[in-house]
Amino acid sequence: MTVRRLPRTLLGAVALIALVVLAAACAPNATQDTLKPAGPYAQKIDNLFRPVFWIAVAVFVVVEGLLLYLVVRYRHRKGRREIPPQVHGNQRLEIAWTIVPAIILVGVAIPTISTIYALAAKPSGQVLEVNVIGHQWWWEFAYPGLDVTTANVLHIPVGEPVYASLCSAGLGYHDQVAPNACQEEGGFGNVGDDVIHSFWVPQLAGKQDVVPGRTNHLVLEADRPGTYTGQCAEFCGLSHAYMRLQVVAQTPEDFDTWVRQQQADAVTPPQGSLAATGLNEFLNGACIGCHAIQGPKVNDQPLTQPGGPNLTHLMSRDCFAGCIFTMNRANLERWLKDPPAVKPGSWMPDYGLSDEQVQALVAYLMTLK
Ligand code: CUA
Repeated sequence: MTVRRLPRTLLGAVALIALVVLAAACAPNATQDTLKPAGPYAQKIDNLFRPVFWIAVAVFVVVEGLLLYLVVRYRHRKGRREIPPQVHGNQRLEIAWTIVPAIILVGVAIPTISTIYALAAKPSGQVLEVNVIGHQWWWEFAYPGLDVTTANVLHIPVGEPVYASLCSAGLGYHDQVAPNACQEEGGFGNVGDDVIHSFWVPQLAGKQDVVPGRTNHLVLEADRPGTYTGQCAEFCGLSHAYMRLQVVAQTPEDFDTWVRQQQADAVTPPQGSLAATGLNEFLNGACIGCHAIQGPKVNDQPLTQPGGPNLTHLMSRDCFAGCIFTMNRANLERWLKDPPAVKPGSWMPDYGLSDEQVQALVAYLMTLK
């Protein structure tokens, strides 16, 4: 009885696992689908992946099929005493099963290597340069040619390659301030308390490591407008899973409009308003120790302190804190009250702000459009 029962339980378990695996492939609204490339660089990867996948399927089917056939065909049977004919030392067979895999591997290597070179080449012509700086646990995007710095939401024009220089920055090592630009090639200036991240927007490009003290490059491009989501793909500490990003691809006209809007100074709230109280809190509190805002000044000095996200046009972004929060009043309040409580390990500490302070600060932040 138990002998007959065991395979049935095993069959049930296998069926259940297969069902779970199959169901896992059925995510609706999968926004990070590398199999749906939305630009030429992601397309190159897809063009390589598909044939290699089917070659691997063919190898799997042939090898496992032969294995199963041989296991069944030459299994032990009652009354069978002799050992089946042995093929050890059969030169023809051994040459064949050495040469065939070698040919398959060379056949896969040629398109793989050419794709690697095609993806790594710096594009020529009209190219948008962006510095991508990985922080714990959010992304900084600086457009060196445009004098724009933003966080977590990267805007790009469609149809134009974006040449990203990626590096990682910590809070600054000892008294050294955190850099807000990647170092030149061979530079070793970014190493401190920073860690390795990986920048990944599946529909637009492959993955690229974001490494302290080293500048890596990645080219991405979207060929249609839309919002593409991505995330950090390398374990980087407590809130690694909360280190997401959005890429907003726009028509060149919309992108230019966005750039002009980002280049503008932050507006000054009218005197006597709650937002003005918030600005006051901002300038006299801990905020300016880490956050730059272009516009307001302290002792005639602009607020350019790096370390935390540049807040000049905070409200133009749909999300904040590594894109784990939708940008709205309630979430900003929750965040300011106790950042590490809603995002484990957050470097922005709980400043013990009173409800009034939080209200005023959020009122000010909401003017930063
Ligand atoms: Cu940054 Cu994981």
